[in-house]
Amino acid sequence: MLNLVIFGPPGSGKGTQSANIVRKYNLLHLSTGDLLRQEMEKDTPLGREVSKFIDQGLLVPDDIVWRELYDYVTGHMDAPGFIFDGFPRTIVQAKALDCLLEEKRAPICLVISVEVAEEELFNRLMGRSEDSGRSDDNAEIARRRLQVYKDQTLPLISYYKAQNKIVSIDGMAPVDEVFSRICKAVDGFLAKQKV
Ligand code: AP5
Repeated sequence: MLNLVIFGPPGSGKGTQSANIVRKYNLLHLSTGDLLRQEMEKDTPLGREVSKFIDQGLLVPDDIVWRELYDYVTGHMDAPGFIFDGFPRTIVQAKALDCLLEEKRAPICLVISVEVAEEELFNRLMGRSEDSGRSDDNAEIARRRLQVYKDQTLPLISYYKAQNKIVSIDGMAPVDEVFSRICKAVDGFLAKQKV
């Protein structure tokens, strides 16, 4: 399996690039943000619970997100691979994912870290807020999401660096250019596997 993580702050282009990656490498896109928003749209008890966190720009508790992800991954182990978008976001989540994938003998291959300057992130989120309909796309909550990323998610870089899985991609370029940088990294990984 080709299992990739796309990693980066809110607005760095994880969702945008995941769509391109899915088309080129035929992977399943697993966005925990999308899964959680679907629950909110259905107005289930779980959806009402997660909205308390998402609407504030805070992380949803690990156990709730893990249940969503576990069901999806274990139900699709026949896929050619996954692109994990927005997961993991904490060390607890990263360790749980490693355990699950090691058990399935299909570990993470690469963690694609998309790097974008903070003001550009903010501008992109504000641009998207005009038509996204997302409850967390407004100036105050976007600033909080960026801070939560720095405090709780950024430490994962060291976690994956220790596993030698991080590849840094400069995300300050048009979408196609960023995508071709990602492809170069993924194709480089695949070429090494064939040797
Ligand atoms: P989630 O849905 O994962 O949102 P996010 O990480 O905040 O990321 P975004 O969707 O805002 O941005 P993106 O990086 O995907 O960029 P995009 O491609 O959209 O999470 C939302 C919430 O759910 C969290 O805050 C949390 O509460 C909860 N949650 C989710 N996962 C969780 C987890 N694992 N644990 C706990 N809680 C969790 O692009 C953004 C904009 O920029 C778009 O308009 C796009 O067109 C534009 N754009 C993209 N690339 C470029 C480019 N190269 N140049 C110019 N514009 C660009």
